Amino acid sequence: MASPPIFIPDITQTYSKEQLIVPPHYKEDISAVLIPSGLIKNRVEKLTREIYSEYYNKKPHFLYVLEGAFKFFSDIQHFYMELQSSDPAAGPFSFGSVSVSSYKDDKSTGNIEITVSPKLKKISGREVVIIEDIVDSGKTITGYTKPNKEKVPGLLQELEKYKPSSIKVVSLLLKRNSESNGFVPDFIGFSIPNAFVVGYGLDYNEHLRDINHICTISLLGEQKYKDI
Ligand code: HPA
Ligand code: MG
Repeated sequence: MASPPIFIPDITQTYSKEQLIVPPHYKEDISAVLIPSGLIKNRVEKLTREIYSEYYNKKPHFLYVLEGAFKFFSDIQHFYMELQSSDPAAGPFSFGSVSVSSYKDDKSTGNIEITVSPKLKKISGREVVIIEDIVDSGKTITGYTKPNKEKVPGLLQELEKYKPSSIKVVSLLLKRNSESNGFVPDFIGFSIPNAFVVGYGLDYNEHLRDINHICTISLLGEQKYKDI
């Protein structure tokens, strides 16, 4: 059973970057810490236990979405293997990645590029678990329809072509974006306010992934790393 996401309130309750360990070279690029690394780790461990019991008698195939979910999945597989090693009845899992990009600056471009590896043929008949860093507009997962009525498929439609026996979605973050298409993942770490966030693998134009906390970007950071 999935527990409800931890609700991170609107920006009033962020943590000061002066009171936590933040890389000095990024100090000016973030405005505050939204979710400190200790809280992320504990929540990821809890989510992993829930996923572990959901797939207890199955052999899940984790598919993590590059680049952003790399760190999240790295922590999930670490906690999952800890559970396996203390449980004689535990079964195996396998994993792979899928590459998706659609953001420029802090905007979804609407051009979802999904790079599907030939290895995905192997997901046929498998219990697939998509590992995402963030669900924001929802377009990456479920696709959307362009103003000219052309349909752009999302990750779910692309994966269904390979006939897995089931697909569930785990996302570390779900953004309270009023323009979201309403997609709600099966497992969610945190419900976050409608602000652009970086760190713990999440980027702004490929920058700022290497911070342990999830942070809000500063105006200076946005200008410095703007995609021109
Ligand atoms: N941060 C980083 N990447 C993203 C975000 C965000 O807030 N929303 C969608 N992709
Ligand atoms: Mg990104």
